[in-house]
Amino acid sequence: MAKMEVKTSLLDNMIGVGDMVLLEPLNEETFINNLKKRFDHNEIYTYIGSVVISVNPYRSLPIYSPEKVEDYRNRNFYELSPHIFALSDEAYRSLRDQDKDQCILITGESGAGKTEASKLVMSYVAAVCGKGAEVNQVKEQLLQSNPVLEAFGNAKTVRNDNSSRFGKYMDIEFDFKGDPLGGVISNYLLEKSRVVKQPRGERNFHVFYQLLSGASEELLNKLTLERDFSRYNYLSLDSAKVNGVDDAANFRTVRNAMQIVGFMDHEAESVLEVVAAVLKLGNIEFKPESRVNGLDESKIKDKNELKEICELTGIDQSVLERAFSFRTVEAKQEKVSTTLNVAQAYYARDALAKNLYSRLFSWLVNRINESIKAQTKVRKKVMGVLDIYGFEIFEDNSFEQFIINYCNEKLQQIFIELTLKEEQEEYVREGIEWTHIDYFNNAIICDLIENNTNGILAMLDEECLRPGTVTDETFLEKLNQVCATHQHFESRMSKSSRFLNDTSLPHSCFRIQHYAGKVLYQVEGFVDKNNDLLYRDLSQAMWKAGHTLIKSLFPEGNPAKINLKRPPTAGSQFKASVATLMKNLQTKNPNYIRCIKPNDKKAAHIFSEALVCHQIRYLGLLENVRVRRAGYAFRQAYEPCLERYKMLCKQTWPHWKGPARAGVEVLFNELEIPVEEYSFGRSKIFIRNPRTLFKLEDLRKQRLEDLATLIQKIYRGWKCRTHFLLMRKSQIVIAAWYRRYAQQKRYQQIKSSTLVIQSYIRGWKARKILRELKHRKRCEEAVTTIAAYWHGTQVRREYRKFFRANAGKKIYEFTLQRIVQKYFLEMKNKMPSLSPIDKNWPPRPYLFLDSTHKELKRIFHLWRCKKYRDQFTDQQKLIYEEKLEASELFKDKKALYPSSVGQPFQGAYLEINKNPKYKKLKDAIEEKIIIAEVVNKINRANGKSTSRIFLLTNNNLLLADQKSGQIKSEVPLVDVTKVSMSSQNDGFFAVHLKEGSEAASKGDFLFSSDHLIEMATKLYRTTLSQTKQKLNIEISDEFLVQFRQDKVCVKFIQGNQKNGSVPTCKRKNNRLLEVAVP
Ligand SMILES: Nc1ncnc2c1ncn2[C@@H]1O[C@H](COP(=O)(O)OP(=O)(O)OP(=O)(O)O)[C@@H](O)[C@H]1O
Ligand SMILES: [Mg+2]
Repeated sequence: MAKMEVKTSLLDNMIGVGDMVLLEPLNEETFINNLKKRFDHNEIYTYIGSVVISVNPYRSLPIYSPEKVEDYRNRNFYELSPHIFALSDEAYRSLRDQDKDQCILITGESGAGKTEASKLVMSYVAAVCGKGAEVNQVKEQLLQSNPVLEAFGNAKTVRNDNSSRFGKYMDIEFDFKGDPLGGVISNYLLEKSRVVKQPRGERNFHVFYQLLSGASEELLNKLTLERDFSRYNYLSLDSAKVNGVDDAANFRTVRNAMQIVGFMDHEAESVLEVVAAVLKLGNIEFKPESRVNGLDESKIKDKNELKEICELTGIDQSVLERAFSFRTVEAKQEKVSTTLNVAQAYYARDALAKNLYSRLFSWLVNRINESIKAQTKVRKKVMGVLDIYGFEIFEDNSFEQFIINYCNEKLQQIFIELTLKEEQEEYVREGIEWTHIDYFNNAIICDLIENNTNGILAMLDEECLRPGTVTDETFLEKLNQVCATHQHFESRMSKSSRFLNDTSLPHSCFRIQHYAGKVLYQVEGFVDKNNDLLYRDLSQAMWKAGHTLIKSLFPEGNPAKINLKRPPTAGSQFKASVATLMKNLQTKNPNYIRCIKPNDKKAAHIFSEALVCHQIRYLGLLENVRVRRAGYAFRQAYEPCLERYKMLCKQTWPHWKGPARAGVEVLFNELEIPVEEYSFGRSKIFIRNPRTLFKLEDLRKQRLEDLATLIQKIYRGWKCRTHFLLMRKSQIVIAAWYRRYAQQKRYQQIKSSTLVIQSYIRGWKARKILRELKHRKRCEEAVTTIAAYWHGTQVRREYRKFFRANAGKKIYEFTLQRIVQKYFLEMKNKMPSLSPIDKNWPPRPYLFLDSTHKELKRIFHLWRCKKYRDQFTDQQKLIYEEKLEASELFKDKKALYPSSVGQPFQGAYLEINKNPKYKKLKDAIEEKIIIAEVVNKINRANGKSTSRIFLLTNNNLLLADQKSGQIKSEVPLVDVTKVSMSSQNDGFFAVHLKEGSEAASKGDFLFSSDHLIEMATKLYRTTLSQTKQKLNIEISDEFLVQFRQDKVCVKFIQGNQKNGSVPTCKRKNNRLLEVAVP
């Protein structure tokens, strides 16, 4: 959001009066009181119109921050409270925007804050002017020239710890955009006497202390200096240290500043060498030496120092030594050399030191100028800043004070000229009639001093140049003659009888009544100081130096350019430079800063009225105010005036539609301000008396309060009303919501109650209908039942005679039939599978069908078995018959039997027909072979077994050799009587033969076979089919066999496991054959 522009005025929140022009009544007391009041409230700046009075606060105030710079930037001069920034801004803006060269004149006594003020102005301008690398470098160089000049030109005095001991005027040059281009510095009258002697409690120039404190050991050695201040005669010892000042740090700052300003390293070094040489000069001491002519001649006491100086500066030691002992005077082309006595030698030494230093200072200024001078030839706008000593009135006032005060007279002169001129110009511009202003014009005093024929300076020069003995007294005499009648000149001898009675006026003094007060000058030293002479021998010695800087400082020492004309005197030089300065200032728009020192103690918060009063007087500030308000005390453009006071009149408040001037006219008429109190200019209203302005201000203040009340009233009304409206609106919303909610709730209640009542009524109705319906139904049922009974009775009565006798039996049979029918039909669906081994059978439905159900199960089983059997071929039938036979014979009798069930009976295990080995055997047998298998025949004698082919045919049983196939025995089946075997799990069996038959000659056979069950079964069946007799099969674990004549018992025992699972057979004795079965 854009910051709202608030039009403020100097008149707002004023402490005392911000502009002295508005002071009412105006006198010294009110003036001082106003300054004091403002000073006590930290308002150190006060205006006199466009002049700024600055009272030194002696402490840092927070009023120079970047924010403050922004505050004052581009604001009207009278818009904010008085400030040095306002003046700087005004000057800078009229330079930049209106193309008017500016000068800022800063005056005030020592310690009043002139140098600080000049730095503030420079820093403000630096902050608000253009930016950019090049511009910044220029700014930096301009700002950094200050520390360098301060180090060489400032010193601690009793009045000021950082007192400028030279006057400085600096032109800052800008381009058309207002960017700084460079600058030119002029210096005035360095107080060089300080180099050799300082008053009590004061110091030499800062640079000496800075060099000794801050230089490295290396640098000190190079300059043959020692750090100890007390080693140097030129450094007074009682106040070598200044509180709060770090000389060493400042030395570094100065070196750095020199670098920024553009000093080459060798230049900076040369400068320090000269400083060192000056310091060391002070240590040269002289002693008297009597000469033949009876006069004293001075000799240097200790030549060591001299030697070091000469080494440092490259001067021939003997030349310098001579220059300190002799003086060459040229008179009428003749050189006369006179010796110097000790006093003269000291005078020469000090003169050299002073000259060396002051020339070095001028060289520094020139060198800085070279660096900071604008690099372009385009037209420049200029802002000059003058920081020059103010009026000085000491107890002992000498030539320097005279010069300084002269300068201040000149400044006052142009102040009066320019202020009045400006005032007059404004009146003309605004078309206001010019009335004469009564004020004191100090031109007459200036004339007293500077007049070319009989001015004091001219008299002094005349005295100095005059042949013959010239002393300060002769000078005073001359003054007494020439100026005696001047109103502003007084002396004891003056003919002006007005002051003859003034015994306070001492001898050898004259008094001048300056515009700022009377000053008494001692004539002693005037001539000498004005001459400012350095013995030619010394300047020649300097010129001969190897040190280029020193050489360049003494051009008059060059014998080739010997000039018999005397150099211009100090007074005339100063007069000329002041004249140039004045000329320069006159072309510029002046801005004044008048600095005031509030106390002598350099302390904050102390306001010494007597001291301030003194300064106000000699600065002529009251005069300032008077001039300023000679015609009209206050003026203001119509627009801001109307803007400020429009609320005082109904027609102009809140808006005036016409031109501002007309508005102001209406306003002033309305307020009945006397016509002589104001005048209408072209663009401004002029107010004669501050009283009128303050009346306006008071009215405004009152009116503002009323307006504030009005605004407050309206605002409060508006606020309450909006608040009320908002509350009402909210209340309606809340009420609406609440009503809705309440209605909703009520409706829900009614609805649910209605539903309950409704459901009760419906229920009641329904029950009523139900009851009716039930009743009707029961009636109908009763009717039907009655009717049925009735019909039944009728029918029975009619048909009783036809079925009463057998109806029960028939019903019983019918029912039974239905049940059986249902049973069979259900059985049909529940039949189990046709597998003969399926044991499932549906459960019995009725108990009385139990036997039928069992019978049916049996029949079904037989039927499905038959069905199963019917599928068999003859072959299969035979096999099953054999298996059946085996089962009948051995089941549950022989332990071997179960293992044979699963084996199919193959009969012909040996395929005799196919094997050619048995061709002979095959050929020998004509019958069908039923069994052909290898068996073990047990040897009757020892029980061992041999393999034999066992063949069974329809009629015979044959044994053949397994290898050869040769038949070993043939037994007709009719001769086989019995087969014996154990009940155990072995394959032994005995074939018993008929006694007496041919085959039985060797006895019965004992075999062992893996297919015992099959063999025995087949043997049994074959025998049965051939002989029609059942073969006897004996199953016993002990039976008898006939071996030849013996009856041997074959006994089966549970054998050991020696032979694994194979049974072993052993003939025990004649009667026993033991078979061990595992
Ligand atoms: N605006 C200020 N704010 C704070 N301190 C200030 C201000 N002006 C001056 N001073 C203090 O007063 C001292 C003296 O000021 P300054 O050196 O400017 O005086 P001067 O008028 O230049 O004196 P001289 O004529 O001796 O050079 C400064 O060193 C500083 O301590
Ligand atoms: Mg100063």
